[in-house]
Amino acid sequence: MLPRVCEPPPLDPKLEADVYREMDHGDVNRGFVRDLFESGPVGPRVIDLGCGPALIPITLCETAAAIVEGSRPAVSHGSDLSSLQVMGVDHCVDMLELARVELEFAGMLGQIQLEQVDLNDPDGLQSELAETVISNTVLHHLESPINALRLGIKALRPGGRLFVRDLYRPETDREVERLVELHGGSAEAATSGIDPRQLLRQSLHAALTLEEIREIVATLGIDPGCVNMTSNRHWTLDCVRPERQS
Ligand SMILES: C[S@@+](CC[C@H](N)C(=O)[O-])C[C@H]1O[C@@H](n2cnc3c(N)ncnc32)[C@H](O)[C@@H]1O
Repeated sequence: MLPRVCEPPPLDPKLEADVYREMDHGDVNRGFVRDLFESGPVGPRVIDLGCGPALIPITLCETAAAIVEGSRPAVSHGSDLSSLQVMGVDHCVDMLELARVELEFAGMLGQIQLEQVDLNDPDGLQSELAETVISNTVLHHLESPINALRLGIKALRPGGRLFVRDLYRPETDREVERLVELHGGSAEAATSGIDPRQLLRQSLHAALTLEEIREIVATLGIDPGCVNMTSNRHWTLDCVRPERQS
């Protein structure tokens, strides 16, 4: 099995934020929001942990508006989408600045709020703020991903829903390279010397295996069966807030 190798902190956070924003995550983001709506209730208050440029909160609010208007099929699960409010949190000021520009452009500064929060800080969020806590491809950035899950659980109201997706770490270098070939884009897309394929390679090496994330959630009182592979490179945790807070 490949060992987990955490990513080095970014040397130039602004450049890395710009490079991340330039990559096309449209399909992945739409898939995240589709799966979130299709598999359970959403909102009315949602927190996105590690929101980056806030493209998922924007897609979420656009999709909710289309459902409310009737131009997209309604979702059951008792979601109250007419008053959806999203809070995106990230520790990186450069990401938050990009997010603010995206929100302004989308006309969503009133519906999506941004906060600077370090997911390692147990006091980063207040208790019982939201019915839904989401996160996409963030946990592999953290040395101790359990801290972010604890914080997310703390911010959930009783009965609230945690929906977290991240990359998984393959068993072999060969599989890492296969995924980089399939999903890493082309070396020509490298901006300012940062190759998106190398970013994906590093992320896959820093990610958790399915067994590792299942062990972590079990220690938080969550049924490990709530974590499942949902693509050839992602696992998804979808569960209700556990009864006991650890
Ligand atoms: C790969 S990006 C994903 C962004 C967004 N979730 C998306 O899917 O577009 C990872 C994000 O996690 C944020 N992040 C990494 N470590 C963090 C921490 N300790 N606290 C808060 N955010 C963090 C980064 O700043 C970055 O915006």
